[in-house]
Amino acid sequence: MPISIEPTVELNIEKIRSDFPILDQKVYDKTLVYFDNAATTQKPRVVIDRIKQYYEKENSNIHRGVHRLSQIATEAFEKARLNVQQFINAPELYEVVFTKGTTESINMVASSFGDDQLKVGDEVIISALEHHSNIVPWQMICDKMGANLKVIPINDKGELILEEYYKLLNRKTRIVSVSHVSNALGSINQVQEIIKAAHEYQVPVLLDGAQAASHLPIDVQALDCDFYCFSGHKTYAPMGGGVLYGKADLLEKMSPYQGGGEMVNTVTFEKTTYNELPFKFEAGTPNVEAILGLDAAIQYLRGIGLDQIAAYEDELLQYGTSALESINGVRIIGKADHKTSIISFLIGDIHPYDAGTIIDRMGVAVRTGHHCAQPVMDRFRIPGTIRASFAFYNTKSEIDLLIEAIETTKKMFS
Ligand code: ALA
Repeated sequence: MPISIEPTVELNIEKIRSDFPILDQKVYDKTLVYFDNAATTQKPRVVIDRIKQYYEKENSNIHRGVHRLSQIATEAFEKARLNVQQFINAPELYEVVFTKGTTESINMVASSFGDDQLKVGDEVIISALEHHSNIVPWQMICDKMGANLKVIPINDKGELILEEYYKLLNRKTRIVSVSHVSNALGSINQVQEIIKAAHEYQVPVLLDGAQAASHLPIDVQALDCDFYCFSGHKTYAPMGGGVLYGKADLLEKMSPYQGGGEMVNTVTFEKTTYNELPFKFEAGTPNVEAILGLDAAIQYLRGIGLDQIAAYEDELLQYGTSALESINGVRIIGKADHKTSIISFLIGDIHPYDAGTIIDRMGVAVRTGHHCAQPVMDRFRIPGTIRASFAFYNTKSEIDLLIEAIETTKKMFS
């Protein structure tokens, strides 16, 4: 069994763990080890307290009230937008649109951009590494408009084959939409090369940052991406809130995604005029608590430092990878040169669900299945994987417990 060593990156893990109340509990009488962070992250107390404060002191609908509570809630909501703008280094505040999450952000672009820009015979490029939420919305709009979906293939390490991507780009390409980081394998895609090549054809690029925003510092200006999406709940914030960043000229040209309150200027039965950015894309009452929680989460993450987080999580990834590789019969799926702290693996020919169930009984929460990325599983001709995904509150000792659980699983099936 591997021996845990202290982290070399300067993070006070004990203090950080005490910020997350949920971690301090037992499941099945065992200390909880939470390795399902790619599905959702746990919430620090500052986020939980922020939601409590909102409902105890500030709850009110935003943007539409002159009364004091509405002003306070509106100011807090718009302050959150400013914080998100800084978090991703968006040039303009009005380029930050609040959504329900990555899925809604991608659907918004696929639907609005697609409706306006796609015609019969046009092409949309995605990749074989995508989560279903970056496949299905594009399939739907391509079907509707008579456009064609093209897919960048991946190699045996789980990396996009850029030479094949360059061959797919042509004058019929209207948009490229790829993940920044793969949810199933953890591969960090070479998005800067992807964006540069697309821009040579004046083609915009959307990055699905659901698995990136909590692990890597994001700078949309340095990336020069045209759209960037991420979810609050994978970034230590509540479920039901997320972000779509879009370059203003593209957002301006896009039709609204949904109609309703807030997204309009004037409404008559003859004609409606739309509100300015970002409100044109924020129809109806937003999830205020989720966005205030996101604000608190981002402040918390910036307090620790995304560079520090990335370095520590990389240490966990390296430690976990070599520990898993040392176990006879364990096969890691996805060995990209650049990865975030996700390890997908199989134990011999044990079905991932069976393995996951036993590992769970030992107190270790891992995810099993296709991870909403069925084409990735098809590419490797497997039904699914066991996925351990680490956050900066995890430790090497916890990885040792996963290793023990895998050994136990192996014994039970031998
Ligand atoms: N998209 C989430 C995952 O990868 C649910 O697990």
